[in-house]
Amino acid sequence: MDDLDSLTNSLLAEIGRADSAAALEELRIAALGKKGTITGLVKTLGAMDAEERKVKGAAFNAAKDRIAAALDARRAEIAARELDARLAFERVDVTLPVRAEAQGRIHPVSQVTEEVIAIFAHMGFTLAEGPDVEDDWHNFTALNIPPDHPARQMHDTFYLQDDKAAAAPAGAGAGGNRPALLLRTHTSPVQIRHMQANRPPYRIIAPGRVYRSDSDMTHTPMFHQVEGLVIDRDIHMGHLKGCLEEFLRAIFGIPDLRYRLRPSHFPFTEPSAEMDIGCSRKGGVLKLGEGDDWLEILGCGMVHPRVLEYAGVDSNQWQGFAFGLGIDRIAMLKYGIPDLRAFFEADVRWLRHYGFAPLDVPTLSAGLNR
Ligand code: PHE
Repeated sequence: MDDLDSLTNSLLAEIGRADSAAALEELRIAALGKKGTITGLVKTLGAMDAEERKVKGAAFNAAKDRIAAALDARRAEIAARELDARLAFERVDVTLPVRAEAQGRIHPVSQVTEEVIAIFAHMGFTLAEGPDVEDDWHNFTALNIPPDHPARQMHDTFYLQDDKAAAAPAGAGAGGNRPALLLRTHTSPVQIRHMQANRPPYRIIAPGRVYRSDSDMTHTPMFHQVEGLVIDRDIHMGHLKGCLEEFLRAIFGIPDLRYRLRPSHFPFTEPSAEMDIGCSRKGGVLKLGEGDDWLEILGCGMVHPRVLEYAGVDSNQWQGFAFGLGIDRIAMLKYGIPDLRAFFEADVRWLRHYGFAPLDVPTLSAGLNR
């Protein structure tokens, strides 16, 4: 019995000192394995008489159980300690700055879109959207551009398949004709869709892609606009002016930016105007907010009563203004990007130069500018 006790005690002590799962496994094999010390004692049972075997057998089993239990307990302790060590070592400090080698960049068009949204959201506008593939009626007719109106030519419209022929004579939606489909030439059809689907008053902006068959330094077949629409009971041109002044000064970050409203013409607004901002072009360099030159920046006006009626809004009760501006153009001006075509060439070197860090999210509190 003394052999067993001293063997058990020394094994338990060794188990208590073991400091890795591997060391424990070695101890287990040395004690309980096929050629282990305890196993060796168990084997001596065969040579004993029945009485002795009964007593010793019970003692051996008790010793085996104690050792197995000690091994389990120590294994759990070691596992817990290893986990603690790993957790301490692998801890991530989420307040660390983004690593310099982060590759993705935000496209200037996306950045400016977010900036525009942030500014108008602050003024209480909500977002609206419409489809890129429009029908003739929403893109033209409901905006007071009838089928034979010259403005249709000016829009350089992309029609889908043979829809141009189908559209011209009858006009879409009339006489059970299939509506002629096209790629929207401006975001103004979203005005119509929003008014048809909701009750006034309205205060929305609608950013999105628009398409015209045109391509040079400052034109691409696809570009981006933001439409704005404000309709209520007593909206007048003064609201339009104040709203757009606030917007332009915020987006360009120039508090005393000069601007002017110049009379213009759009079929869907009356009166119509274009907004110019003050700039200088000295030495071929365009600078905003200085000099005495002008740069056209957006189209706007009071929504034509006929447009409201087309959209199912009573023009005797409701009135307001609309505006449309080019996002790409604002990005070019704000960030000094010379050629519009490069916006859509998907050249990563260009994007690395003009793009924005992924976490550089425009907000009114943190500021819009880099
Ligand atoms: N839709 C016009 C364009 O694309 C812009 C505009 C929108 C003008 C709303 C007036 C009012 O040129």
